[in-house]
Amino acid sequence: MNRLDFLKRMAWALGGATVLGVDQSLLRAAPSDKNIMPKAGEKFDIFNANVQGLEAKVTKPVTVIIIGAGGRGNAYATYAKRYPNAMQIVGVSDINENRRNAMADAFKVKKENRFGDFSEVFKKGKLADAVIISTPDDVHYEPCMMALEKGYQVLLEKPIAPTEKECTDILAAAKKHNRIVAVCHVLRYAPYFVALKQAVDSGVIGDVISVQHLEPILFDHMAHSYVRGNWHNSKKTTPIILAKSCHDLDIIRWIVGKPCTQISADGSLTYFKASRMPAGAPAYCIDGCPHESTCPFSAIDIYVRRKRMLKVFDLPEVKDELIMEKLRTTDYGRCVFRCDNDQPDHYVANMVFEGDVTASFSMEALTSYSGRRTRIMGTKGDIVGDMAEFVITDFRSNKKTVWNKQVEELEAYKDAGHGGGDLGLVRDFIQAVGDNNPSILSSTIDASVESHVMGFRAEESRLSMSKVKIS
Ligand SMILES: NC(=O)c1ccc[n+]([C@@H]2O[C@H](COP(=O)([O-])OP(=O)(O)OC[C@H]3O[C@@H](n4cnc5c(N)ncnc54)[C@H](O)[C@@H]3O)[C@@H](O)[C@H]2O)c1
Repeated sequence: MNRLDFLKRMAWALGGATVLGVDQSLLRAAPSDKNIMPKAGEKFDIFNANVQGLEAKVTKPVTVIIIGAGGRGNAYATYAKRYPNAMQIVGVSDINENRRNAMADAFKVKKENRFGDFSEVFKKGKLADAVIISTPDDVHYEPCMMALEKGYQVLLEKPIAPTEKECTDILAAAKKHNRIVAVCHVLRYAPYFVALKQAVDSGVIGDVISVQHLEPILFDHMAHSYVRGNWHNSKKTTPIILAKSCHDLDIIRWIVGKPCTQISADGSLTYFKASRMPAGAPAYCIDGCPHESTCPFSAIDIYVRRKRMLKVFDLPEVKDELIMEKLRTTDYGRCVFRCDNDQPDHYVANMVFEGDVTASFSMEALTSYSGRRTRIMGTKGDIVGDMAEFVITDFRSNKKTVWNKQVEELEAYKDAGHGGGDLGLVRDFIQAVGDNNPSILSSTIDASVESHVMGFRAEESRLSMSKVKIS
C-alpha cells in the first residue's frame, strides 16, 4: 500500500477522528488553493459525509423508454446494465436508426417497441412506468408534455426547455397530472456536491453570506460543443448560461438555500470569431491550415492525435482515417474562427438572494482544466473546494476539516459520469418512481424551474446590460 492509499484508508476508517502530522504530499492538493490545504504537521479532521450505494431498492424493476439514444441516453441506459433488478429498458426512440437499434439490441427491446420520432411512442398505449428524455434541447418540451399527458413519470435532460414559458408549462403539467419530472441536474447527485451541501447545512461555517463559483469549461471542450458542435448557436439550442451553466446556477441556489431575487450578467464571444482568425486559415483544419501545428484548437490535434470526444462520430472502430473523414464531412473539422457560433466564451453573473446573501459566478472557456471551483463564505468559517475535495476552515480555532473521498475509488461509482452524479440521479429517479415518492429527488421540477429562471434572467440582463429582478 502506498502512502497516499494509506492516508485515504486511514481517513475513511477514522471518519471524524483527527489525523495528525500528515505530510502535505499525501493529500491531493486543490490546484488553485494549496494555501488552504493543511500543511505538514498540521491537524485536520475528515468530513464524514454519507455516500449512498447506487442500486435503487425496488420490489420490481421500473420499466423505462429511452427517447434519444445518443450520448446522454446511453449514459443513463448503463444503469439498466448494472442494475437490471432496478431498471429495465422496454422501449427506445431515436430518429437515427443506427443509434436506435444499437441500444435496442443491447437491451433486447422488442421490434414493436423501437420508435423513430418521439411522437410514435405516444401513439401507443402506456408501455412503461417512465420515459427518459435525452433528445436535443429543442426536443424536450413536446415529448415531455406528451409523456405527462399519457401517464408516464419523466426523467428530463437539462435544460428543461428553450423558453421560460415552456419550462413553466411543464411545471404546471406535472402538477396537473400529479407526475414526477426529475431534471438531470446531475451534479446534485455527485458525492462531492452531496457532501458540500451536507457541510453547509450542518451549520459548521455558520450562516452562508456569499458564494464564489467558477465553471472552467476546458478549451477543447468549448471548441467541441459550443463553437463547432451541437450547442454552437444559442438560437438553435439555448444560450450557454442554460445549455452549459444551468447546473451551476442550480448548485449555487441549492447551496444558498434561499430564492434568488436579483441577477446581473455580462460576457461575450470575444475569441472564437472571424476577427480573431489568423491569416490564411482555411474553412477546415485539414485543408492545409498554416497554423495547424501551433493552434490549440486544431481539429486534427484534438480528434486525431489526442483522440478526444470521439463519441459524437459513432465510429465503428477508432481509426485515424475514419476520424479524418469525419473532419472532412462534419462541423467538427471546421476552423474555430469560421463557424456560425454565437455562444459567449466568458460569462459572469452576480446574484442576490433573500437575506442579502450574494453569489458570483464565472463560466470560462479558456482554461486548461475542468471541474468546478467553489468558495463558500460563512459567519463562522469558510469552505474551499475543487470538485475532488473541499476544506472547511473554522475561523476561531483555525481547525481544518477535509472531504477527499475520491469517487473513482468507490467501486460502484467507477465510470458513473459527472463525478458519480449521472448514476446517482438515475438511482434516485428509479427509487422515486418505484416508491411513488417525488420527495426522494433533489432536482425536482419546482427547484429546477426556479434555477432555470435565474438563467433566463441572467441572459436578459446580459443582453439588456441591466440588473434584473426575479420575483
Ligand atoms: N445533464 C448533463 O450533464 C448533460 C450533459 C450533456 C448534454 N446534456 C443534454 O442532454 C441532451 C442530449 O444531449 P446528447 O449529448 O446526448 O445529444 P446527442 O445528439 O448525442 O443525442 C440526442 C439523440 O436524440 C435523437 N433525436 C433527435 N431528435 C429526435 C426525435 N425527434 N425523436 C427521437 N430522437 C431524436 C438524436 O438522433 C440523438 O441520437 C441535450 O438536451 C443536452 O443539452 C445534458
